[in-house]
Amino acid sequence: MNYLANVHRYQSMEYRRCGNSGLKLPAISLGLWHNFGQIDSLQNARDILRLAFDSGITHFDLANNYGPPHGSAEETFGTIYKDDFKTYRDELIISSKAGYGMWEGPYGDWGSKKYLVASLDQSLKRMGLDYVDIFYHHRPDPETPLEETMTTLDLMVRQGKALYVGISSYQPAEAAKAFEILKQLGTPCLIHQPKYSMFDRWVEGGLLDVLEENGVGCIPFSPLAQGVLTNKYLKGIPEDSRAASHRGNGAIEENQISESTINKVRQLNEIAVSRGQELAQMALSWILKDKRITSVLIGASKPAQVTNSIRCLDNINFTSDELNRINEILK
Ligand SMILES: NC(=O)c1ccc[n+]([C@@H]2O[C@H](COP(=O)([O-])OP(=O)(O)OC[C@H]3O[C@@H](n4cnc5c(N)ncnc54)[C@H](OP(=O)(O)O)[C@@H]3O)[C@@H](O)[C@H]2O)c1
Repeated sequence: MNYLANVHRYQSMEYRRCGNSGLKLPAISLGLWHNFGQIDSLQNARDILRLAFDSGITHFDLANNYGPPHGSAEETFGTIYKDDFKTYRDELIISSKAGYGMWEGPYGDWGSKKYLVASLDQSLKRMGLDYVDIFYHHRPDPETPLEETMTTLDLMVRQGKALYVGISSYQPAEAAKAFEILKQLGTPCLIHQPKYSMFDRWVEGGLLDVLEENGVGCIPFSPLAQGVLTNKYLKGIPEDSRAASHRGNGAIEENQISESTINKVRQLNEIAVSRGQELAQMALSWILKDKRITSVLIGASKPAQVTNSIRCLDNINFTSDELNRINEILK
């Protein structure tokens, strides 16, 4: 059946300005790293995307290697985009990335111009798009000169294949260098995509300051530590969880969830309940309490998780007592 978006979709989502740019992003964005591959249900993927857009989520995040197999999340998105979202193209912010191993040989990985140009062309074809809204360099490349990688991002904008550019997982000093090069080229960096959750707070050690100084937005990934910062693992590993799925491609594995982690999750869960939230919601609110965060990038295996996670926006304020108790648990 033809999809008609919810007419009330813009009523409850919050939109935050991305750094010093003209672009606003929804406080919650949806990533397609897992659950959108060739091995996954197309109908479920469609239901998740429709529900997200109906809820005001205008930003969908992809990468060349999302799947499995690599490329298949972009293909799935392309199929659903053609059927459901083509008429809404100007209401959507679609991103892709390159930087991890994508194809055989010396030109299918890292940060050379050769790799990035070919990869974006492939991504556009898979998604059936003329351009992406944001193109990222997915991870720093210790060998390719930063000037080559950044000049390529600038080229993509000049060619009209990307509207904005971003970087992911760059440390503060190398991010600052990248911002300087991009500024000189006339294509300021829009956004940085780092891993950030209650369980991984590295961005607080300088990156967020560098982003603020440079007017660059921030969209943290894996804010629920791939689902660990929810109440789902409190009684073991459910069969339908990511940890039980053995999907590979960086997905969390059962043996990465220790008893001491679950102990912390249990204590955090008690604070969440006292705030009238589920732990997943509190973990997202906790990130969004910082105004330097533009959007938090969630994943979902079911439409209901999107509905559930969005409710974090009902309470993004924390008392200093709550923050202190959380810090104690996370020590
Ligand atoms: N730039 C990078 O290098 C990079 C790396 C990783 C990810 N990312 C981006 O970040 C996005 C999000 O990453 P992520 O999927 O790891 O994020 P996440 O939000 O930490 O984890 C998502 C998973 O948590 C579970 N979940 C989500 N909402 C829930 C809820 N309300 N209640 C209970 N469980 C819930 C689901 O797992 P179950 O399967 O267990 O239900 C879901 O698939 C990716 O899709 C991708 O776009 C970027």
